[in-house]
Amino acid sequence: MYVPPGEVTNDMLGRIMDTSDEWIVQRTGIRKRHLVDGAGTGSLELGVKAAEAALSNGSLAPSDIDFVIFATMTPDLYFPGNGGMCAARLGMKNTHALDIRMQCAGFLSGLQVADAFIRAGVYERVLLVGAEAHSGLMPWPRHVWDVLWGNSEGPCDPEWYQKLTGMRDRAVLFGDGAGAMVLEANDTGDGRGFLGFVMETDGTQWDKLHVPGVGCRFRPYISHDMVDALGGVPIVEGRQVFRMASQLMPAAVNSVLAQTGRTLADLDLLLMHQANLRINEAVQKQLGLPDEKVFNNIQKYGNTTAGTLPIVFHEARTEGKVKDGSLVVFTALGAGVHWGAGAVQM
Ligand code: ACO
Repeated sequence: MYVPPGEVTNDMLGRIMDTSDEWIVQRTGIRKRHLVDGAGTGSLELGVKAAEAALSNGSLAPSDIDFVIFATMTPDLYFPGNGGMCAARLGMKNTHALDIRMQCAGFLSGLQVADAFIRAGVYERVLLVGAEAHSGLMPWPRHVWDVLWGNSEGPCDPEWYQKLTGMRDRAVLFGDGAGAMVLEANDTGDGRGFLGFVMETDGTQWDKLHVPGVGCRFRPYISHDMVDALGGVPIVEGRQVFRMASQLMPAAVNSVLAQTGRTLADLDLLLMHQANLRINEAVQKQLGLPDEKVFNNIQKYGNTTAGTLPIVFHEARTEGKVKDGSLVVFTALGAGVHWGAGAVQM
């Protein structure tokens, strides 16, 4: 995993919008997040650093990889996607790369795609990267960033303070960060690997989480008016997303366990997308799981969208919670709306 060095506490956000540590912690569980300071660094850079860490962790060279998948909803450029540039940055020659844009379900979807390609014998070793630079979606100007980082005493420009207060329900949720995994074929017959996935999409709910402006159905695809009207800022119907996530993630977990012939009693660790600690507490409660069978780290990173599952996996593994032979289930829900679960025997 890799997160940029700049840490933003809830109190720091209070410098540029009307919010408080108390509100954010109580409603979301988030205490801080990491954000990129300034233009020039995007999700590609964060993803490359996470990919390098994953290759080094597996004692692998870029030449050992025969397929790259990059999931992000905040790509460096409108096109091309990050995948090919990531492969190039790692020094890969002619390695095919696929871009996934499925928001908070992006990494889970990438796991399913990687597993399917490996099972089909198309590729033997796949590098999967999930990375986000949400700071690029935050439209405030440099002088507001300076107040946030404490480079300028402030106070924040009142017009921007008001605008940011209008988007405070979303602006406090996200953090920048990346994670990566290498998946490889296992022909040993020892039973280790992905056992199955349950993946679903309900496109009728697209408007519950979306970016209203900037897109090729507009002429031109981006305009000054659109930017001035904050058309690049995501719209989040928070309560409805909260409800969907707390109902659909546990249903997906139950489905994937049933599909793979396992039960909740067999489950050793549930790793959930980290959009709101209260959502994850509701999922845990519905499934009746004890605290030792879940792991959350949203408190430190906020919602890192496609970066979340590999980051939460990395930290759970580092803390000794991912044991050899254990049954781990990943689950996520994201804009689309896409959701699902994947079960893996470690
Ligand atoms: N600080 C202080 N007050 C705030 C803040 C804030 N950051 N945000 C909202 N409020 C205020 C509102 O203005 C409102 O005030 P009012 O009652 O005076 O009108 C009050 O708090 C309640 O606002 P709600 O938006 O109804 O608050 P809610 O309890 O629903 O929490 C939240 C909002 C945290 C967004 C929650 O709904 C949630 O976590 N939803 C799911 C997460 C989500 O959608 N994430 C999006 C990304 S997921 C993905 O796939 C990309």
